[in-house]
Amino acid sequence: MIQKNCYILGIESSCDDTAAAVINNGEILSNVVATQAIHEQYGGVVPELASRAHQQNIVPVVHQALHKANIDKNQLSAIAFTRGPGLMGSLLVGTSFSKSLALGLGIPLIDVNHMQAHILAHFIKAEGQSAPNFPFLALTISGGHTQIVKVTDYFEMEIIGQTIDDAVGEAFDKSAKILGLPYPGGPLVDKYAQLGKPKVGPMDFSFSGLKTSVLYFVEKEVNQNPNFISENIEDICASIQYTIVDYLMDKLKNAVKKTGINEVAIGGGVSANSGIRTALKEAEKKYGWKTHIPKFEFCTDNAAMIAIVGELKYKNQNFAESNVVASARMKF
Ligand code: KG4
Ligand code: ZN
Repeated sequence: MIQKNCYILGIESSCDDTAAAVINNGEILSNVVATQAIHEQYGGVVPELASRAHQQNIVPVVHQALHKANIDKNQLSAIAFTRGPGLMGSLLVGTSFSKSLALGLGIPLIDVNHMQAHILAHFIKAEGQSAPNFPFLALTISGGHTQIVKVTDYFEMEIIGQTIDDAVGEAFDKSAKILGLPYPGGPLVDKYAQLGKPKVGPMDFSFSGLKTSVLYFVEKEVNQNPNFISENIEDICASIQYTIVDYLMDKLKNAVKKTGINEVAIGGGVSANSGIRTALKEAEKKYGWKTHIPKFEFCTDNAAMIAIVGELKYKNQNFAESNVVASARMKF
């Protein structure tokens, strides 16, 4: 029996954020994220440390999510968790916690694909967000993925384009590392970029190519002027961001042309980037697209997006088996 007025707890632990959220009829009652600062000193996520931090964080994070939503765990209708893709050690923490809690409470368990959740986050009822109409194109841009997805229905998705090497988040983070900025560098590149002017034109290459050309360019300039980076950080960041955004928009334009679908949504951590948000808004006027940009809190990893997928699946009684296992390379 499914409940009409349902409360779903979402749990996310695929990478380095431990998150829990409660959703009730499409509205988010709480959205708690514990970001793991431990990785900053290593310049990237250390899987073993991520797994350990999830173990420390998951109970307090879930407690806080229930407390903020002002509900008791016995009121929950189901538990939705990220099954994959992600880091195996991290996924295992969320998976085993969710299984145990669902079993203990005697309620259904729902497995969620993290990348689908980044897309379906647009269906959360929240001010400033509008639900896309099917079919639409989704550009998912994160630290692990860069994909253009054709979305025909909630769970009918087809990847029609993707990066051949690095993810766009990596392009931001690795370029930032070359500039001596701490991990994750994406938001910092964004911050400096807004103060600088791009000095390079659009270039057509892969993201790993971008990182290499940033490296060669910076090395050459630093040879002549050791203070080159600190003196030009804003313009360098603006150039990196301009190139990445231009490149993504180029690919999106191709996808719109090829599919004839001009309703476009973005999702994933990099959709918090000011450059891509502005470019997408401008595309409404420039090309007549209808665009959807998620609220900031639903861009980087969060459990609200897991909870909305949980709710959509709950209504269809699409539950996981009790022997469900985490899947590091889960596909759609
Ligand atoms: O979706 P997400 O939180 O985790 C993954 O599933 O990977 O994405 C994290 C990525 C990181 O690479 C981070 O640097 C990037 O999103 N990011 C940004 C911004 N905010 C987060 N990149 C550029 N500009 C931003 N404002
Ligand atoms: Zn993500």
